Amino acid sequence: MRRTSLLITSLVLACALPALAQTPPGSDPAIPPAPKPAPTMVGPIPPILAPGRVLLGTKDVMRHIVNPAAEAFWARSGEVDDEGGAHDRVSKDDENWKITLDSAAQMVEAGNLLQMEGRARDPNGPWMKYAIQLTNAGLAGMTAAQAKNHDKTNDAGSAMYDACYGCHGRYIVRPKDSLYTHDIDKDLKDAGVKPPK
Ligand code: HEC
Repeated sequence: MRRTSLLITSLVLACALPALAQTPPGSDPAIPPAPKPAPTMVGPIPPILAPGRVLLGTKDVMRHIVNPAAEAFWARSGEVDDEGGAHDRVSKDDENWKITLDSAAQMVEAGNLLQMEGRARDPNGPWMKYAIQLTNAGLAGMTAAQAKNHDKTNDAGSAMYDACYGCHGRYIVRPKDSLYTHDIDKDLKDAGVKPPK
């Protein structure tokens, strides 16, 4: 009997604890809540309705557009450490430079997609700054790819990373007791927002 109720108590606690450790989304007044997710697409959208309308939520834009483009770009720029020591990751042929160029171009427009009404989290806050940063990094990446300039692809790749890092640190809600820290105070100050308590 006793053992059963102990078991139940620990089960209840185990279920409740992770929930307690989380900051419920929307509880931090300085971070605007996510816009309502776009409805799931069930069929083709009549073309007349499509222009300017948000069709996928931010998560899907990340998963299917931003992240694959970033991975394709980063796989062909920067430096990698392996058994052979440190060496540059650089495109060796036109086919790979084209992938670098294509992925940078995808990033340019992805920055635009993130600024659209219905996706932009706070149009007057740092969100737009990070989205524009992504577009600018993509433009720098396109220029670098067209010139087949390895150093410049590295710079553009770092700039892309900075945009991801900045925006995620600011807008992805983490548990209050997370060991991950992020310097968002400066961004909040830049945006004229009072830092959260
Ligand atoms: C302007 C803001 C912004 C920028 C810039 C940005 N992200 Fe995101 N990203 C988000 C937000 C917000 C989420 C959380 C979306 C959600 O869970 O609803 C997210 C989530 C993700 C996810 C998780 C998707 C999933 O399946 O849960 C990945 C992967 C990701 N981003 C990759 C990237 C990469 C790579 C870059 C840079 C090249 C980047 N993001 C730039 C805002 C941004």
